[in-house]
Amino acid sequence: MKPKQDAIVPKNILNLLTASSRFDLWAGFIKQQKIKVIAEVGVYRGCFSQFILKEYQGIEKYYMVDPWRQLDRWCKPANHDNSRFESIMSEALDRNSRYMEKIKVLRGTTTEVIEAIADDELDFAYIDGDHTLRGIAIDLVRVYPKIRVGGWLAGDDFSSSIWQHPTSYEPTLVFPFAVYFAEAVGARIYALPHSQFLIEKQEVDEFEFFDLTGKYTDLSIKSHVGTVKIVLLNVLSFLPFSDAIFKVVRKFFQ
Ligand SMILES: C[S@@+](CC[C@H](N)C(=O)[O-])C[C@H]1O[C@@H](n2cnc3c(N)ncnc32)[C@H](O)[C@@H]1O
Repeated sequence: MKPKQDAIVPKNILNLLTASSRFDLWAGFIKQQKIKVIAEVGVYRGCFSQFILKEYQGIEKYYMVDPWRQLDRWCKPANHDNSRFESIMSEALDRNSRYMEKIKVLRGTTTEVIEAIADDELDFAYIDGDHTLRGIAIDLVRVYPKIRVGGWLAGDDFSSSIWQHPTSYEPTLVFPFAVYFAEAVGARIYALPHSQFLIEKQEVDEFEFFDLTGKYTDLSIKSHVGTVKIVLLNVLSFLPFSDAIFKVVRKFFQ
């Protein structure tokens, strides 16, 4: 499957290409689309929600979905112990205290709490929780029915490498899973800067993958798991690099 580069992409989507950060990108989009009802899956310290709620006062309801607890089957660096998550949750709520009349806190995993949101209720959802294959599969399948036709399902960590973290962690499979999900439901999907994706929920069955970054040319898994690459990654994963340094060094042999 080849990403489309030459088809006509709406101007409102092309405008997103100049955003300086993922926060700016989504704040601009949410404002332009006059989004009223949002769900964020994976809230953590509440930095994204604070930015969005501050930038656009037209939001009427903002669902925060997060378990804020240690999870048994989440092999990712942010899976802290419960006491640390308690203080992270307090920080998220303090940071967003002035928007509390708009916020609905749904504390739990997506599977545990998603039915508190009605089908077709959301204009926009931002998926930024468990990015493993299990996590992104659950999140996209569970959240999609909650989006109204004409609404949007977006997300973070659409990493062109599945090795976003050292190999002791589960790989990140937002890409390519989100593309296959869009194909399964017959929707358009856009790859955007800052490792973001956007799925447009339409009435018509019209799957297209628009890679607006040029970074997502190979949708196969085999390109990520070649023997030489895995050996190098394992060596790199043993070195005492921070996550940020790991990502920089990893790019040299991609
Ligand atoms: C990357 S952080 C979110 C960052 C936040 N969206 C931001 O931009 O400021 C990931 C969060 O996902 C949450 N999470 C992990 N698994 C989840 C699941 N199954 N359902 C919902 N949230 C989950 C974690 O508790 C953590 O707070």
